Amino acid sequence: MIGKSYIAPKYAFGFGQSRWGYKTAEDIEGVVKGYRDNRIPLDMVYMDIDYMQDYKDFTVNPERFPDFGQFVQQMKAKNIHLIPIIDAGVKIEEGYDIYEEGVEKGYFCKRADGSDFVAAVWPGWTHFPDVLNPDARAWFGGKYKVLTDLGIDGFWNDMNEPAIFYSEEGIRALNQAIADYVKAPDGGADDDGAEDIMNNANAIPWEVRSCIEHLQNSPEDYRRFYHNVNGQRVRHDLVHNLYGFNMTRAAGEALQAIAPDRKMLLFSRSSYIGMHRYGGIWTGDNQSWWSHILLNLKMMPSLNMCGFLYTGADLGGFGSDTTRDLLLRWLALGVFTPLMRNHAALGTREQECYQFEHIEDFRHVIGVRYRLIPYLYSEYVKAAERDEMYFRPLGFDYPGDRRAVETEDQLMLGNEVMIAPVYTQNVSGRTVYLPEEMKFVKFMPDGSIYEEVLEQGTHYVEVALCEVPLFVRKDRCIPVVDAAQSVDAIDLGTVRYIGYDGAEYELVE
Ligand code: GLC
Repeated sequence: MIGKSYIAPKYAFGFGQSRWGYKTAEDIEGVVKGYRDNRIPLDMVYMDIDYMQDYKDFTVNPERFPDFGQFVQQMKAKNIHLIPIIDAGVKIEEGYDIYEEGVEKGYFCKRADGSDFVAAVWPGWTHFPDVLNPDARAWFGGKYKVLTDLGIDGFWNDMNEPAIFYSEEGIRALNQAIADYVKAPDGGADDDGAEDIMNNANAIPWEVRSCIEHLQNSPEDYRRFYHNVNGQRVRHDLVHNLYGFNMTRAAGEALQAIAPDRKMLLFSRSSYIGMHRYGGIWTGDNQSWWSHILLNLKMMPSLNMCGFLYTGADLGGFGSDTTRDLLLRWLALGVFTPLMRNHAALGTREQECYQFEHIEDFRHVIGVRYRLIPYLYSEYVKAAERDEMYFRPLGFDYPGDRRAVETEDQLMLGNEVMIAPVYTQNVSGRTVYLPEEMKFVKFMPDGSIYEEVLEQGTHYVEVALCEVPLFVRKDRCIPVVDAAQSVDAIDLGTVRYIGYDGAEYELVE
């Protein structure tokens, strides 16, 4: 009913490193060197907002990236795809072509009085492209060509709720609240509002605090601008969730036209039912918390049920400082999520896998991902083509088994596998429920594969920090290859099948 799912390119099943804060070509080269020198597989490095000139979409800072096109090719030669971010807000700046064209053509979201709505995001004051207007959508989508012409073949769309730090109206309301407070009989006497609040022994009054708290993503702001949907004026708050959908639709339709024969990577932060036809989704700004590993796991089948098959979370956690054990356990879940990306926020500790002790553990866990890529990509493509889910709750496969229906910390993956990642700290394993007999498989750090048949029922399985567990369903098997440094380097000639003897597997590419 909602349409076929987008299919990501195979390279997008490789491992990706990201961080808000890589500023220059040298920073990115350093990351690639860190991975390659330590022989940890890597296929993608993500470029966060700092690659742009003053956070302007479809620009590249020429000082930080003197010859960007050449840099993209140099990276390609190392089997690295650079994946730039694109934000929803277009910077208001004289001489910036996208801003000027958008204003001239009337392609930005408008206030009730017909003026272009102004909101502050990373670049400062911006306008939002009216991606619900088919002409504006085609126009904005066409801009991705600026980067595909330079060899870019993947994007992540962000801040497309659209996120608003504050609006002109919001700032005016805040000013007013401060002025009202200053003028109030029990407030300060002079006109210097901020100074006055600092010198006042009383806390900032509720009226001012509430204004500050409501500056960001305020429902009032979302009622202040309009879309032009085929000539009909539609207030934004009524179609809020369609904004991120249509921004990614803009990109998806354009990328399809730019390279009809080539798959490109595309995923978005904000979305809605139906956007899965154009791209995937990542689960946004999580934290380096153990509870967020479990949350990641639980979100996967929900997203799949909405059609989003290319999904994943910021592994290691976006906000807060990660720890070695947290990252390793999270990666062991990320081995199975189509998007396997380590991403962290500006100001958090360095989170690249080579920043930690015993790098060999990271090499091994990510290596297991590459050993499984033929299987994972095959199950992913099958799910997309057959309108099925890649991740399923156990209850979907064992509906008559109440224990299975109530198990939310294990998932079925494809047609052969069940996963049960470890998501708590300081444990040597976890309890697993098997709805039927299965083969317990562990990828061991020495490259060997441990296999043991376990009966239906409850088991405590030992899983060390450097091991990756999975379960193969009875009478099924999965293909496994040798680990490789990039998806291109995977050698299908090394394939062997693990699981139950005599079972057959259909490999799809
Ligand atoms: C948003 C994104 C995050 C990104 C940051 C800076 O918070 O969700 O992934 O790193 O913006 O662009």
